[in-house]
Amino acid sequence: MSAWLASAWKSSLRILLATAAIAALLLLLSGMRWSGTAMAGSRTSSSTNATTPAAGCAQCHAEVVSSYSHAGMQHALEPEGSDPVLKSHPSLHAQVGPYSYAIETKGAESTYTVSDGKDSLTLPVRWIFGQHSQTWVLEKDGTFYESAVSYFHREQALAATPGDENLQPQSVPDAIGRKVSQWELLQCFNCHATHATEGEKLTLDRLSLGLGCERCHQGSDQHMQDALHGNFASRPRSLKTMNAEETSEFCGQCHRTWDTVVRNHWHGEADVRFQPYRLANSRCFLGTDRRISCVACHDPHQPESTSVEFYDAKCLACHATGGSHAAAGEVKETALAAAPKTCPVSKTKCVTCHMPKVTLPGGHGVFTDHQIRIVRTGESYPD
Ligand code: HEC
Ligand code: HEC
Ligand code: HEC
Ligand code: HEC
Ligand code: HEC
Ligand code: HEC
Ligand code: HEC
Repeated sequence: MSAWLASAWKSSLRILLATAAIAALLLLLSGMRWSGTAMAGSRTSSSTNATTPAAGCAQCHAEVVSSYSHAGMQHALEPEGSDPVLKSHPSLHAQVGPYSYAIETKGAESTYTVSDGKDSLTLPVRWIFGQHSQTWVLEKDGTFYESAVSYFHREQALAATPGDENLQPQSVPDAIGRKVSQWELLQCFNCHATHATEGEKLTLDRLSLGLGCERCHQGSDQHMQDALHGNFASRPRSLKTMNAEETSEFCGQCHRTWDTVVRNHWHGEADVRFQPYRLANSRCFLGTDRRISCVACHDPHQPESTSVEFYDAKCLACHATGGSHAAAGEVKETALAAAPKTCPVSKTKCVTCHMPKVTLPGGHGVFTDHQIRIVRTGESYPD
């Protein structure tokens, strides 16, 4: 359980403990996905909703708002009716065991149909999770389901949703997908949307899709109201002062913290998705040093860079020849200032060798190992 979840759910701790084992398993199976090598630039700006509160922020923070409209996290939950993936793949089909699935898009409407050849059931696709790969959360008679099939960006095709491959539905309604409890549903929307919850209540009627500014900058909606009236006293707390450890905790609310992974005993290649955990296990990681924090390599307001050269300067901030410290002003620990070593092999493209790509079990996704290290040929995945 991350620090954030722990505080948000303090009041329901007992229920949580009772369901923790099941929940941990469900979240491991379904919570995090397989976005991997997706290209951030594939999105058109037309899908950005200009009526989001961010439009108000743009009056004063224009640059941030404009770059963020293309960032992955803005699109963690996609709008019904204008999702680029479904628009460009208007007819998706898959067969899983005795059931066939079809996701069809006509105009602004997408439907999810499951059939066993005799009976069939069609539901509207309302909740579209994921910008690159997608899983749909479907509703039937007040019950929510995680779709039995998902769209995979790399294959550009449908296949069984990871974690749900072994479900053996006995009827067409069962074959919609895995039933999702209210508790889990809250978690899904809380990680993929803004204003999705109020206390322990799911507020689907007021949520906004994807991660809006307010999701990370709590109090910024109020700050905007005030700022427009010339009052800047209520501005949200700055996140720029967080060190590497605090940033990992912050991003780990959703990307999972070191603590969460250890306590849930998540092992094997699947834990490559939990970057805060992998990074903390690297010898490069020093909690007090901002040069190894998530935001040193990823501006949360920008699409993720897929250029390997982009990251060279980040490594060289610590591993520069001659032990020079490009960002000396940021080094607080004198121990670290004792120049980390330089590479005997290459002066560029550091991440291609030291942050290898790892394929998830099941083969549907590729992630980048944040446990920065010397990779020896034939070694097994370091857990
Ligand atoms: C604790 C936070 C958390 C919860 C709960 C969660 N997710 Fe996610 N999800 C993430 C993060 C972080 C990523 C991006 C990293 C990754 O792909 O693993 C992600 C990625 C995804 C992706 C792939 C997106 C892409 O563009 O490739 C899908 C699909 C997805 N989640 C669906 C769901 C569904 C459906 C649920 C609920 C049944 C859910 N998630 C619950 C945090 C969460
Ligand atoms: C009328 C102008 C105005 C509007 C509108 C506005 N802000 Fe601000 N914001 C400011 C000013 C001025 C500051 C203080 C700048 C500083 O301390 O560097 C600030 C500070 C912030 C900070 C803290 C930055 C830091 O690191 O200290 C955040 C975060 C922020 N605003 C987010 C938002 C968001 C999100 C919105 C929209 C919901 C918004 N702002 C709307 C003017 C505005
Ligand atoms: C409220 C939950 C949440 C928080 C907090 C969060 N993330 Fe994410 N992040 C997500 C989800 C969900 C996705 C998957 C978006 C998608 O592809 O659909 C994601 C995707 C990403 C991606 C891949 C984006 C791309 O272009 O494909 C990066 C990089 C990332 N997050 C970095 C960060 C960093 C750095 C922080 C901390 C400053 C952070 N995240 C905090 C939920 C979160
Ligand atoms: C996924 C979490 C996340 C989301 C969503 C997010 N921010 Fe930020 N923001 C951060 C973090 C982390 C920092 C500190 C970055 C750093 O340390 O360099 C930051 C810094 C800022 C700052 C101050 C630094 C600067 O670059 O001027 C402003 C202003 C800001 N954000 C505005 C916004 C606005 C406006 C939005 C919505 C369009 C937004 N943020 C969405 C996480 C987020
Ligand atoms: C030293 C640089 C560095 C740091 C620090 C770093 N990352 Fe990354 N990250 C990368 C690289 C390189 C990639 C792969 C980019 C590509 O090829 O698309 C990546 C990719 C990602 C992705 C996309 C999914 C994947 O695994 O390929 C997410 C999400 C992400 N990082 C989150 C984080 C979070 C959260 C933190 C902080 C715990 C963090 N990163 C710290 C370099 C870094
Ligand atoms: C905050 C500073 C910092 C950053 C940024 C950083 N490192 Fe390191 N790195 C260290 C320290 C400290 C060590 C351990 C001391 C040593 O071996 O010199 C280390 C060790 C290493 C090692 C040897 C690990 C081993 O298993 O023996 C490699 C390889 C490495 N770093 C590569 C990288 C690459 C590639 C990047 C960028 C993706 C990077 N580092 C970013 C500080 C950093
Ligand atoms: C072509 C693959 C490759 C690339 C690219 C690469 N390295 Fe290395 N690096 C290695 C290998 C292999 C070793 C181990 C060498 C040995 O032990 O003989 C190593 C060793 C290191 C070490 C440990 C040195 C020591 O004395 O223990 C550091 C630090 C390091 N690399 C950092 C980097 C940085 C920073 C970059 C980018 C500027 C980089 N590497 C680019 C393959 C690479």
